Amino acid sequence: MKISVIGTGYVGLVTGVCLTEVGHHVTCVDIDENKVQNMRKGISPIFEPGLEDMMTKNINENRLSFTSDYKEAMKDKEIVFIAVGTPQSKDGSAELTYLKKACKSIAEHMTDDLIVITKSTVPVGTNEYVKELIEKHKNASHKVSVVSNPEFLREGSAIHDTFYGDRIVIGSEEQEALDRVKEVYSSFTLPILETDLRSAEMIKYASNAFLATKISFINELGNLCERLGANIENVSKGMGMDKRIGDKFLNAGVGYGGSCFPKDTNALVSIGHSVGYHMSIVDSVIETNDKQQRIIIDKIKEFYPDLSHKKVAVLGLAFKPNTDDMRDAPSIKVIRELVDNEAEVYAYDPIAEENAKVFLPGGTIYKDSIDETLKDKDFAIIMTDWQEIKEYPLEQLKSQLKHPALFDGRNCFNLERVKESGLEYHSIGRPS
Ligand code: UGA
Repeated sequence: MKISVIGTGYVGLVTGVCLTEVGHHVTCVDIDENKVQNMRKGISPIFEPGLEDMMTKNINENRLSFTSDYKEAMKDKEIVFIAVGTPQSKDGSAELTYLKKACKSIAEHMTDDLIVITKSTVPVGTNEYVKELIEKHKNASHKVSVVSNPEFLREGSAIHDTFYGDRIVIGSEEQEALDRVKEVYSSFTLPILETDLRSAEMIKYASNAFLATKISFINELGNLCERLGANIENVSKGMGMDKRIGDKFLNAGVGYGGSCFPKDTNALVSIGHSVGYHMSIVDSVIETNDKQQRIIIDKIKEFYPDLSHKKVAVLGLAFKPNTDDMRDAPSIKVIRELVDNEAEVYAYDPIAEENAKVFLPGGTIYKDSIDETLKDKDFAIIMTDWQEIKEYPLEQLKSQLKHPALFDGRNCFNLERVKESGLEYHSIGRPS
């Protein structure tokens, strides 16, 4: 099938590349000409394991192309995916500027009947507006059908999730369009759920908000465990054995971050407001997470009330491992607070340093290895559970620090091991 994908962020690029892998011909569109030039050479604008190899293979086999020109992108296409960003606007709602621009450009350049598949996360009802907008701006009498197809991939395992995720959701009021979209995915072995348009849009927000709820719930419980002498890891394990609860997304830590959970939970509350309904659970989830992102600072201040001129090693900056994404990373709040308290911050992340420089305060000093970061610092903090951090020998960690104290925001180490090492250790929801 001849397909175009508008937007080459995580969702768009991974979708486009994976569709070529199963034999479709895909043109990916981005307005940034520089980005397009690089992608033509197989250089990905995002860090995602396995993506560049798959890009290069499909470029060489002439199934994958890139352009900034809508005319070229829309020529002879019967299917277009919209995968542009829908960032959070000031009032918490989803910003639809990029989506509107994409719709107008699609309408002006479509050359045939078209199925528009929206992958961008959009407020309930938006796909009806997408259809209206394209109908309004198109020139010829071509037919436009709209399908909502929310995306559930995770950064860092995006390709795996595309092929081996839990489900594909497609929603539309037009059965013919749904049947054609099923053909797009005919080589995929995932179950396909067909729904109406609005329910498909809602499934995306509902899923992310529910996962965020699990995290805030377990974090709140962890804070209680600390006060009662229980261990959140044991509690999570015991809860997760109940299949109705499930054992995933019950790891306590410094709160969720990233480009999705914070944005989508806020958008869901805003969607509620727009129809006069207060989403009180989701609202509390957001509040709990805001506090949790600062929890390490509260712990540190118990031991170091005066942080001025303290040398602090921060290990891990990205919002989670296997990504260089710094959007809403808990490390941002923690490092800002440390710098505001006149601490000297030495930071290390295996791949997020360049992005971190955009988000972190100017005074932050970046180091190239865990060893260099730890050497002669007053204490250390772990903000991201990178494998190399989890595998770092505790004895070595202890010997490098001036005062051997570790504040572990991701529960990277087994408590027995920590005890053997003699390190002063504070983690989340577990006895010190
Ligand atoms: C999330 C969803 O998991 C995807 O299904 C969804 O498609 C995506 O958002 C999106 O909307 O595009 P992602 O943001 O890549 O994916 O990251 P996750 O792996 O879900 O992690 C989110 C945050 O939760 C991270 O900060 C992580 O450290 C935190 N987390 C996760 C916990 O604190 N505890 C856990 O048990 C699990």
